[in-house]
Amino acid sequence: MAGSGRPKPRILIGDDQSDVLTALRLLLKSEGFETQVARSPAEVLSSLAAERSDAVLLDMNYSRDTTSGEEGLQLVAKITESWPQLPLIVMTAWATIDLAVEAVRRGARDFLQKPWDNRRLLATLRTQLDLSRALDGQRRLQVENRALGAASRVPIVASSSSMQAVIEFAQRVGRSDANVLITGEHGTGKGVIAREVHARSRRGDRSLFTVNIGALPEALFESELFGHVAGAYTDARQAREGRFELADGATLFLDEIGNLPFGLQAKLLRTIETGEFEPVGSSETRRVDVRLLAATNADLSARVLEKTFREDLYYRLNTVEIRLPPLRDRREDIVPLAEYFLANHRARYERTELTFSAAAVAALLGYRWPGNVRQLEHCVERAVLLARDEAIGPADLALSSQDGSSASLDEMTLEEVEQALIRKALARSVGKVAEAAAALGLSRSALYRRLVKYGFAREETGVCP
Ligand SMILES: Nc1ncnc2c1ncn2[C@@H]1O[C@H](COP(=O)(O)OP(=O)(O)OP(=O)(O)O)[C@@H](O)[C@H]1O
Ligand SMILES: [Mg+2]
Repeated sequence: MAGSGRPKPRILIGDDQSDVLTALRLLLKSEGFETQVARSPAEVLSSLAAERSDAVLLDMNYSRDTTSGEEGLQLVAKITESWPQLPLIVMTAWATIDLAVEAVRRGARDFLQKPWDNRRLLATLRTQLDLSRALDGQRRLQVENRALGAASRVPIVASSSSMQAVIEFAQRVGRSDANVLITGEHGTGKGVIAREVHARSRRGDRSLFTVNIGALPEALFESELFGHVAGAYTDARQAREGRFELADGATLFLDEIGNLPFGLQAKLLRTIETGEFEPVGSSETRRVDVRLLAATNADLSARVLEKTFREDLYYRLNTVEIRLPPLRDRREDIVPLAEYFLANHRARYERTELTFSAAAVAALLGYRWPGNVRQLEHCVERAVLLARDEAIGPADLALSSQDGSSASLDEMTLEEVEQALIRKALARSVGKVAEAAAALGLSRSALYRRLVKYGFAREETGVCP
Protein backbone atom coordinates (compact mmCIF):
# COMPACT_ATOMS: atom_id res chain seq x y z
CA MET A 1 0.00 0.00 0.00
CA ALA A 2 1.62 3.24 1.06
CA GLY A 3 5.30 3.72 0.51
CA SER A 4 5.61 1.72 -2.70
CA GLY A 5 8.24 4.21 -3.83
CA ARG A 6 8.13 6.26 -7.04
CA PRO A 7 4.42 6.52 -7.89
CA LYS A 8 2.68 9.73 -6.96
CA PRO A 9 0.80 9.47 -3.66
CA ARG A 10 -2.82 8.83 -4.38
CA ILE A 11 -5.38 10.62 -2.26
CA LEU A 12 -9.02 9.64 -2.01
CA ILE A 13 -11.29 12.63 -1.39
CA GLY A 14 -14.71 11.88 0.02
CA ASP A 15 -17.15 14.76 -0.13
CA ASP A 16 -20.58 15.30 -1.58
CA GLN A 17 -20.10 18.89 -2.67
CA SER A 18 -18.73 19.20 -6.16
CA ASP A 19 -17.13 22.63 -5.58
CA VAL A 20 -15.15 21.18 -2.68
CA LEU A 21 -14.09 18.21 -4.78
CA THR A 22 -12.97 20.45 -7.63
CA ALA A 23 -11.00 22.79 -5.38
CA LEU A 24 -9.26 19.94 -3.58
CA ARG A 25 -8.46 18.09 -6.80
CA LEU A 26 -6.89 21.16 -8.35
CA LEU A 27 -4.86 21.90 -5.23
CA LEU A 28 -3.60 18.35 -4.81
CA LYS A 29 -2.87 17.90 -8.50
CA SER A 30 -0.76 21.04 -8.58
CA GLU A 31 1.21 19.69 -5.61
CA GLY A 32 2.03 16.41 -7.30
CA PHE A 33 -0.64 14.12 -5.93
CA GLU A 34 -3.00 11.84 -7.78
CA THR A 35 -6.61 12.08 -6.70
CA GLN A 36 -9.71 9.93 -6.68
CA VAL A 37 -13.09 11.20 -5.62
CA ALA A 38 -16.04 9.61 -3.89
CA ARG A 39 -19.35 11.41 -3.49
CA SER A 40 -20.98 9.26 -0.82
CA PRO A 41 -19.95 7.01 2.07
CA ALA A 42 -20.76 3.96 -0.05
CA GLU A 43 -18.53 5.21 -2.85
CA VAL A 44 -15.70 5.83 -0.39
CA LEU A 45 -15.81 2.22 0.76
CA SER A 46 -16.09 0.74 -2.71
CA SER A 47 -13.26 2.90 -3.97
CA LEU A 48 -10.99 1.81 -1.11
CA ALA A 49 -11.83 -1.81 -1.77
CA ALA A 50 -11.15 -1.48 -5.50
CA GLU A 51 -7.98 0.64 -5.69
CA ARG A 52 -4.86 1.55 -3.80
CA SER A 53 -5.06 4.83 -1.83
CA ASP A 54 -2.25 6.33 0.22
CA ALA A 55 -4.43 8.63 2.29
CA VAL A 56 -8.05 9.69 2.62
CA LEU A 57 -9.45 13.18 3.06
CA LEU A 58 -12.96 12.69 4.31
CA ASP A 59 -15.74 15.18 4.81
CA MET A 60 -17.82 14.43 7.90
CA ASN A 61 -21.02 16.20 6.96
CA TYR A 62 -22.93 14.45 4.25
CA SER A 63 -25.71 16.94 3.77
CA ARG A 64 -27.92 14.58 1.85
CA ASP A 65 -27.71 11.86 4.47
CA THR A 66 -27.78 13.38 7.93
CA THR A 67 -26.66 16.57 9.53
CA SER A 68 -25.69 14.96 12.81
CA GLY A 69 -22.53 13.54 11.33
CA GLU A 70 -23.40 10.05 12.55
CA GLU A 71 -23.07 8.72 9.02
CA GLY A 72 -19.58 10.22 8.76
CA LEU A 73 -18.59 8.72 12.13
CA GLN A 74 -19.74 5.27 11.11
CA LEU A 75 -17.73 5.63 7.96
CA VAL A 76 -14.63 6.58 9.96
CA ALA A 77 -15.09 3.47 12.11
CA LYS A 78 -15.46 1.25 9.05
CA ILE A 79 -12.40 2.67 7.33
CA THR A 80 -10.12 2.45 10.36
CA GLU A 81 -11.33 -1.07 11.04
CA SER A 82 -10.76 -2.39 7.52
CA TRP A 83 -7.69 -0.30 6.65
CA PRO A 84 -6.05 0.46 10.02
CA GLN A 85 -2.82 1.66 8.45
CA LEU A 86 -4.36 4.06 6.00
CA PRO A 87 -3.95 7.71 7.05
CA LEU A 88 -7.42 9.14 7.40
CA ILE A 89 -7.87 12.88 7.78
CA VAL A 90 -11.37 14.18 8.43
CA MET A 91 -12.75 17.60 7.56
CA THR A 92 -15.49 19.34 9.50
CA ALA A 93 -16.93 22.79 9.78
CA TRP A 94 -15.56 24.53 12.86
CA ALA A 95 -18.96 24.61 14.47
CA THR A 96 -18.88 20.83 14.61
CA ILE A 97 -15.55 20.45 16.30
CA ASP A 98 -17.02 17.78 18.58
CA LEU A 99 -17.50 15.66 15.50
CA ALA A 100 -13.82 15.96 14.66
CA VAL A 101 -12.93 14.98 18.20
CA GLU A 102 -15.13 11.92 18.00
CA ALA A 103 -13.67 11.00 14.60
CA VAL A 104 -10.16 11.11 16.05
CA ARG A 105 -11.36 8.94 18.92
CA ARG A 106 -12.58 6.43 16.38
CA GLY A 107 -9.24 6.27 14.68
CA ALA A 108 -8.89 9.20 12.26
CA ARG A 109 -5.27 10.36 12.31
CA ASP A 110 -5.95 14.05 12.17
CA PHE A 111 -8.60 16.58 11.33
CA LEU A 112 -8.95 19.81 9.40
CA GLN A 113 -11.47 22.54 9.77
CA LYS A 114 -13.50 23.91 6.90
CA PRO A 115 -12.96 26.29 5.26
CA TRP A 116 -9.51 24.80 5.12
CA ASP A 117 -6.20 26.54 4.83
CA ASN A 118 -4.27 25.13 1.86
CA ARG A 119 -0.91 25.23 3.61
CA ARG A 120 -2.20 23.47 6.66
CA LEU A 121 -4.03 20.89 4.59
CA LEU A 122 -0.92 20.06 2.58
CA ALA A 123 1.27 19.97 5.67
CA THR A 124 -1.13 17.64 7.46
CA LEU A 125 -1.39 15.37 4.46
CA ARG A 126 2.37 15.20 3.94
CA THR A 127 3.01 14.52 7.61
CA GLN A 128 0.59 11.63 7.56
CA LEU A 129 2.07 10.24 4.35
CA ASP A 130 5.61 10.54 5.74
CA LEU A 131 4.59 8.85 8.92
CA SER A 132 2.95 5.95 7.18
CA ARG A 133 5.90 5.55 4.79
CA ALA A 134 8.41 5.61 7.63
CA LEU A 135 6.45 3.01 9.45
CA ASP A 136 5.90 0.69 6.56
CA GLY A 137 7.59 -2.65 5.99
CA GLN A 138 9.48 -4.15 8.88
CA ARG A 139 8.07 -1.79 11.44
CA ARG A 140 4.53 -3.01 11.09
CA LEU A 141 4.21 -3.68 14.75
CA GLN A 142 5.06 -0.12 15.54
CA VAL A 143 2.47 1.04 13.06
CA GLU A 144 -0.13 -0.62 15.17
CA ASN A 145 1.19 1.05 18.29
CA ARG A 146 1.20 4.38 16.56
CA ALA A 147 -2.28 3.93 15.22
CA LEU A 148 -3.40 3.25 18.77
CA GLY A 149 -1.43 6.22 20.02
CA ALA A 150 -2.90 8.45 17.37
CA ALA A 151 -6.40 7.32 18.17
CA SER A 152 -6.05 8.07 21.86
CA ARG A 153 -4.20 11.34 21.41
CA VAL A 154 -6.10 14.46 22.29
CA PRO A 155 -6.66 16.62 19.22
CA ILE A 156 -5.26 20.13 19.20
CA VAL A 157 -7.90 22.68 18.41
CA ALA A 158 -6.57 25.57 16.36
CA SER A 159 -8.35 27.81 13.91
CA SER A 160 -6.06 30.82 14.08
CA SER A 161 -3.28 31.03 11.57
CA SER A 162 -0.80 31.72 14.38
CA MET A 163 -1.63 28.42 16.12
CA GLN A 164 -1.73 26.52 12.87
CA ALA A 165 1.77 27.75 12.17
CA VAL A 166 2.83 26.66 15.66
CA ILE A 167 1.42 23.18 15.16
CA GLU A 168 2.96 22.81 11.73
CA PHE A 169 6.30 23.88 13.15
CA ALA A 170 5.96 21.53 16.14
CA GLN A 171 5.26 18.63 13.81
CA ARG A 172 8.21 19.50 11.64
CA VAL A 173 10.71 19.81 14.50
CA GLY A 174 9.14 16.73 16.04
CA ARG A 175 10.73 14.65 13.31
CA SER A 176 14.21 15.99 14.05
CA ASP A 177 15.94 14.99 17.25
CA ALA A 178 16.58 18.60 18.26
CA ASN A 179 16.02 19.82 21.81
CA VAL A 180 12.98 22.03 21.91
CA LEU A 181 12.11 24.81 24.32
CA ILE A 182 8.40 25.60 24.49
CA THR A 183 7.55 29.01 25.88
CA GLY A 184 4.30 30.82 26.58
CA GLU A 185 2.07 32.11 29.35
CA HIS A 186 0.33 29.81 31.82
CA GLY A 187 -2.27 27.57 30.25
CA THR A 188 -1.43 28.31 26.61
CA GLY A 189 -0.93 24.63 25.78
CA LYS A 190 2.80 24.03 26.26
CA GLY A 191 2.13 20.53 27.55
CA VAL A 192 -0.10 19.80 24.57
CA ILE A 193 2.61 20.92 22.15
CA ALA A 194 5.26 18.87 23.96
CA ARG A 195 3.13 15.76 23.45
CA GLU A 196 2.68 16.62 19.80
CA VAL A 197 6.43 17.09 19.23
CA HIS A 198 7.09 13.75 20.88
CA ALA A 199 4.29 11.94 19.06
CA ARG A 200 5.63 13.07 15.69
CA SER A 201 9.17 11.97 16.43
CA ARG A 202 10.83 8.65 15.72
CA ARG A 203 10.57 8.06 19.46
CA GLY A 204 6.81 8.58 19.32
CA ASP A 205 5.96 4.95 20.01
CA ARG A 206 7.83 5.18 23.33
CA SER A 207 6.65 7.11 26.35
CA LEU A 208 7.04 10.79 27.01
CA PHE A 209 8.55 11.04 30.49
CA THR A 210 7.69 14.25 32.28
CA VAL A 211 9.28 15.91 35.28
CA ASN A 212 7.45 18.91 36.62
CA ILE A 213 10.34 20.83 38.07
CA GLY A 214 8.03 23.46 39.51
CA ALA A 215 6.26 20.87 41.65
CA LEU A 216 9.35 19.19 43.11
CA PRO A 217 10.96 20.13 46.40
CA GLU A 218 14.49 21.30 45.69
CA ALA A 219 16.10 18.51 47.71
CA LEU A 220 14.59 15.92 45.37
CA PHE A 221 15.57 17.37 41.99
CA GLU A 222 18.81 15.58 41.59
CA SER A 223 17.54 12.17 42.59
CA GLU A 224 14.42 12.61 40.47
CA LEU A 225 16.47 13.39 37.39
CA PHE A 226 19.47 11.15 37.86
CA GLY A 227 18.35 8.54 40.41
CA HIS A 228 20.22 7.45 43.50
CA VAL A 229 21.94 4.39 44.87
CA ALA A 230 20.95 2.65 48.08
CA GLY A 231 22.22 4.56 51.08
CA ALA A 232 22.65 7.84 49.22
CA TYR A 233 20.37 9.51 51.77
CA THR A 234 19.28 8.50 55.21
CA ASP A 235 15.88 7.60 53.77
CA ALA A 236 17.21 6.01 50.60
CA ARG A 237 17.14 2.35 51.52
CA GLN A 238 16.75 1.24 47.93
CA ALA A 239 18.32 2.40 44.73
CA ARG A 240 16.00 4.28 42.43
CA GLU A 241 16.24 4.99 38.69
CA GLY A 242 16.05 8.62 37.69
CA ARG A 243 14.02 10.04 34.85
CA PHE A 244 16.99 10.22 32.50
CA GLU A 245 17.51 6.49 32.85
CA LEU A 246 13.83 5.70 32.43
CA ALA A 247 13.65 7.87 29.33
CA ASP A 248 16.60 6.17 27.63
CA GLY A 249 15.68 5.85 23.94
CA ALA A 250 12.62 8.02 24.48
CA THR A 251 11.81 11.66 25.27
CA LEU A 252 12.14 13.54 28.55
CA PHE A 253 9.99 16.60 29.11
CA LEU A 254 11.25 19.02 31.76
CA ASP A 255 8.27 21.19 32.56
CA GLU A 256 8.79 24.58 34.25
CA ILE A 257 12.52 24.41 33.61
CA GLY A 258 12.83 28.00 34.86
CA ASN A 259 12.62 26.60 38.39
CA LEU A 260 15.72 24.47 38.09
CA PRO A 261 18.12 25.60 40.84
CA PHE A 262 21.33 27.19 39.62
CA GLY A 263 23.43 24.48 41.26
CA LEU A 264 21.85 21.75 39.16
CA GLN A 265 21.97 23.62 35.89
CA ALA A 266 25.60 22.67 35.21
CA LYS A 267 24.82 19.01 35.84
CA LEU A 268 21.89 19.09 33.47
CA LEU A 269 23.99 20.83 30.84
CA ARG A 270 26.60 18.11 30.97
CA THR A 271 23.99 15.37 30.60
CA ILE A 272 22.43 17.13 27.65
CA GLU A 273 25.80 17.49 25.97
CA THR A 274 27.20 14.03 26.63
CA GLY A 275 24.27 11.86 27.71
CA GLU A 276 26.31 11.07 30.82
CA PHE A 277 25.48 11.36 34.52
CA GLU A 278 26.09 9.73 37.87
CA PRO A 279 23.22 8.77 40.16
CA VAL A 280 23.30 10.48 43.56
CA GLY A 281 25.73 8.65 45.83
CA SER A 282 27.50 6.87 42.99
CA SER A 283 30.69 7.54 41.08
CA GLU A 284 29.76 5.21 38.25
CA THR A 285 29.00 7.12 35.07
CA ARG A 286 25.93 6.08 33.10
CA ARG A 287 25.06 6.98 29.58
CA VAL A 288 21.68 7.46 27.94
CA ASP A 289 20.13 8.54 24.65
CA VAL A 290 17.40 11.00 25.52
CA ARG A 291 15.64 13.66 23.53
CA LEU A 292 14.93 16.66 25.68
CA LEU A 293 11.90 18.92 25.59
CA ALA A 294 11.54 21.76 28.08
CA ALA A 295 8.84 24.29 28.82
CA THR A 296 8.66 27.50 30.77
CA ASN A 297 6.48 30.54 31.23
CA ALA A 298 9.43 32.49 32.57
CA ASP A 299 11.50 34.76 30.37
CA LEU A 300 14.70 32.71 30.40
CA SER A 301 16.67 35.28 28.44
CA ALA A 302 15.94 37.81 31.19
CA ARG A 303 17.01 35.22 33.77
CA VAL A 304 20.23 34.81 31.85
CA LEU A 305 20.86 38.55 32.12
CA GLU A 306 20.07 38.39 35.84
CA LYS A 307 22.53 35.51 36.06
CA THR A 308 20.02 33.16 37.67
CA PHE A 309 19.92 30.94 34.60
CA ARG A 310 23.06 29.70 32.89
CA GLU A 311 23.52 31.09 29.43
CA ASP A 312 25.16 27.92 28.08
CA LEU A 313 22.24 25.81 29.32
CA TYR A 314 19.75 28.23 27.82
CA TYR A 315 21.37 27.92 24.40
CA ARG A 316 21.45 24.13 24.70
CA LEU A 317 17.79 23.94 25.57
CA ASN A 318 16.50 26.26 22.94
CA THR A 319 18.10 24.76 19.84
CA VAL A 320 14.55 25.24 18.64
CA GLU A 321 12.05 27.47 20.42
CA ILE A 322 8.30 27.16 19.99
CA ARG A 323 6.44 30.21 21.27
CA LEU A 324 2.78 29.81 22.11
CA PRO A 325 0.74 32.97 21.66
CA PRO A 326 -1.64 33.94 24.50
CA LEU A 327 -5.29 33.21 23.79
CA ARG A 328 -6.19 36.92 23.64
CA ASP A 329 -3.91 37.23 20.60
CA ARG A 330 -5.70 34.44 18.72
CA ARG A 331 -9.35 35.12 19.26
CA GLU A 332 -10.39 32.83 16.38
CA ASP A 333 -9.51 29.93 18.66
CA ILE A 334 -11.81 30.92 21.51
CA VAL A 335 -15.09 29.62 20.14
CA PRO A 336 -13.71 26.39 18.62
CA LEU A 337 -11.92 25.64 21.90
CA ALA A 338 -15.03 26.44 23.93
CA GLU A 339 -17.10 24.16 21.67
CA TYR A 340 -14.53 21.43 22.04
CA PHE A 341 -14.49 21.64 25.84
CA LEU A 342 -18.28 21.83 25.85
CA ALA A 343 -18.46 18.64 23.79
CA ASN A 344 -16.12 16.86 26.23
CA HIS A 345 -17.85 17.95 29.40
CA ARG A 346 -21.33 17.58 28.00
CA ALA A 347 -20.65 13.89 27.55
CA ARG A 348 -18.97 13.59 30.92
CA TYR A 349 -21.72 15.26 32.89
CA GLU A 350 -24.54 13.82 30.79
CA ARG A 351 -25.83 17.21 29.66
CA THR A 352 -25.95 16.33 25.97
CA GLU A 353 -28.51 19.03 25.19
CA LEU A 354 -26.31 21.97 26.29
CA THR A 355 -25.23 24.68 23.87
CA PHE A 356 -23.89 28.23 24.22
CA SER A 357 -26.32 31.10 23.89
CA ALA A 358 -25.35 33.89 21.53
CA ALA A 359 -24.77 36.16 24.52
CA ALA A 360 -22.45 33.58 26.06
CA VAL A 361 -20.43 33.41 22.85
CA ALA A 362 -20.16 37.19 22.87
CA ALA A 363 -18.97 37.09 26.50
CA LEU A 364 -16.36 34.44 25.68
CA LEU A 365 -15.09 36.52 22.80
CA GLY A 366 -15.03 39.73 24.82
CA TYR A 367 -12.98 38.32 27.66
CA ARG A 368 -9.20 38.67 27.94
CA TRP A 369 -8.42 35.17 29.26
CA PRO A 370 -5.44 35.91 31.50
CA GLY A 371 -5.32 32.17 32.33
CA ASN A 372 -5.50 31.27 28.63
CA VAL A 373 -6.82 27.91 27.42
CA ARG A 374 -6.77 26.30 30.84
CA GLN A 375 -8.98 29.05 32.22
CA LEU A 376 -11.35 28.67 29.28
CA GLU A 377 -11.54 24.95 29.89
CA HIS A 378 -12.37 25.41 33.58
CA CYS A 379 -14.86 28.11 32.77
CA VAL A 380 -16.72 25.86 30.32
CA GLU A 381 -16.65 22.92 32.69
CA ARG A 382 -18.12 24.98 35.47
CA ALA A 383 -20.78 26.35 33.13
CA VAL A 384 -21.75 22.81 32.13
CA LEU A 385 -22.17 21.94 35.79
CA LEU A 386 -24.05 25.11 36.67
CA ALA A 387 -26.25 25.79 33.67
CA ARG A 388 -29.90 25.36 34.54
CA ASP A 389 -31.25 25.84 31.01
CA GLU A 390 -30.33 24.16 27.78
CA ALA A 391 -28.42 27.21 26.66
CA ILE A 392 -25.40 28.33 28.66
CA GLY A 393 -25.84 32.03 29.38
CA PRO A 394 -23.22 34.67 30.21
CA ALA A 395 -23.97 34.37 33.93
CA ASP A 396 -23.10 30.64 33.87
CA LEU A 397 -19.66 31.55 32.59
CA ALA A 398 -19.03 33.69 35.68
CA LEU A 399 -16.45 35.81 33.92
CA SER A 400 -17.58 39.01 35.52
CA SER A 401 -15.51 39.11 38.66
CA GLN A 402 -12.19 38.22 37.16
CA ASP A 403 -11.34 40.68 34.48
CA GLY A 404 -14.15 43.18 34.22
CA SER A 405 -14.39 42.99 30.47
CA SER A 406 -17.70 41.25 30.22
CA ALA A 407 -19.33 42.23 33.46
CA SER A 408 -22.88 41.26 34.14
CA LEU A 409 -23.55 43.76 36.87
CA ASP A 410 -26.47 42.12 38.55
CA GLU A 411 -24.41 38.99 39.18
CA MET A 412 -21.62 40.88 40.95
CA THR A 413 -21.00 41.85 44.55
CA LEU A 414 -20.14 45.44 45.36
CA GLU A 415 -16.50 44.51 45.85
CA GLU A 416 -16.35 42.71 42.53
CA VAL A 417 -17.78 45.75 40.80
CA GLU A 418 -15.18 47.92 42.50
CA GLN A 419 -12.36 45.62 41.45
CA ALA A 420 -13.64 45.49 37.90
CA LEU A 421 -13.82 49.27 37.69
CA ILE A 422 -10.31 49.64 39.07
CA ARG A 423 -8.95 47.14 36.58
CA LYS A 424 -10.65 48.92 33.74
CA ALA A 425 -9.36 52.32 34.82
CA LEU A 426 -5.81 51.01 35.21
CA ALA A 427 -5.94 49.34 31.84
CA ARG A 428 -7.10 52.58 30.28
CA SER A 429 -4.42 54.64 31.97
CA VAL A 430 -1.80 51.98 31.17
CA GLY A 431 -0.99 51.60 34.85
CA LYS A 432 -0.69 55.31 35.65
CA VAL A 433 -2.17 55.50 39.12
CA ALA A 434 -2.82 59.24 39.23
CA GLU A 435 -4.77 59.10 36.00
CA ALA A 436 -6.71 56.01 37.04
CA ALA A 437 -7.50 57.52 40.43
CA ALA A 438 -8.81 60.70 38.80
CA ALA A 439 -11.00 58.67 36.45
CA LEU A 440 -12.43 56.78 39.42
CA GLY A 441 -12.95 59.91 41.50
CA LEU A 442 -10.56 58.63 44.16
CA SER A 443 -7.42 60.08 45.68
CA ARG A 444 -4.19 58.30 44.80
CA SER A 445 -3.79 56.95 48.30
CA ALA A 446 -7.38 55.69 48.32
CA LEU A 447 -6.69 53.82 45.11
CA TYR A 448 -3.45 52.41 46.53
CA ARG A 449 -5.31 51.18 49.60
CA ARG A 450 -7.76 49.33 47.38
CA LEU A 451 -4.98 47.80 45.31
CA VAL A 452 -3.46 46.40 48.47
CA LYS A 453 -6.83 45.33 49.86
CA TYR A 454 -7.72 43.34 46.77
CA GLY A 455 -4.24 41.94 46.45
CA PHE A 456 -3.77 43.13 42.88
CA ALA A 457 -0.54 41.72 41.57
CA ARG A 458 1.92 43.92 39.77
CA GLU A 459 1.69 41.98 36.47
CA GLU A 460 -2.05 42.33 36.55
CA THR A 461 -2.23 46.06 36.84
CA GLY A 462 1.08 47.37 35.61
CA VAL A 463 1.61 49.21 38.89
CA CYS A 464 3.27 48.21 42.10
CA PRO A 465 0.94 48.88 45.02
N1 LIG B 1 -5.07 23.95 21.29
C1 LIG B 1 -5.63 23.18 22.23
N2 LIG B 1 -6.56 22.27 21.90
C2 LIG B 1 -7.16 21.51 22.85
N3 LIG B 1 -6.88 21.59 24.16
C3 LIG B 1 -5.95 22.48 24.55
C4 LIG B 1 -5.28 23.31 23.62
N4 LIG B 1 -4.39 24.10 24.28
C5 LIG B 1 -4.52 23.77 25.59
N5 LIG B 1 -5.45 22.80 25.76
C6 LIG B 1 -5.87 22.25 27.06
O1 LIG B 1 -5.79 23.30 28.00
C7 LIG B 1 -5.22 22.88 29.22
C8 LIG B 1 -3.95 23.65 29.48
O2 LIG B 1 -2.95 23.28 28.54
P1 LIG B 1 -1.46 22.92 28.99
O3 LIG B 1 -1.46 22.21 30.28
O4 LIG B 1 -0.77 22.26 27.86
O5 LIG B 1 -0.91 24.40 29.18
P2 LIG B 1 0.52 24.89 29.70
O6 LIG B 1 0.95 25.98 28.81
O7 LIG B 1 1.41 23.71 29.86
O8 LIG B 1 0.13 25.49 31.10
P3 LIG B 1 1.09 25.76 32.41
O9 LIG B 1 2.04 26.83 32.08
O10 LIG B 1 0.09 26.18 33.44
O11 LIG B 1 1.73 24.43 32.71
C9 LIG B 1 -5.00 21.39 29.08
O12 LIG B 1 -6.11 20.71 29.62
C10 LIG B 1 -4.93 21.17 27.59
O13 LIG B 1 -5.36 19.88 27.24
MG1 LIG C 1 2.18 22.80 31.54
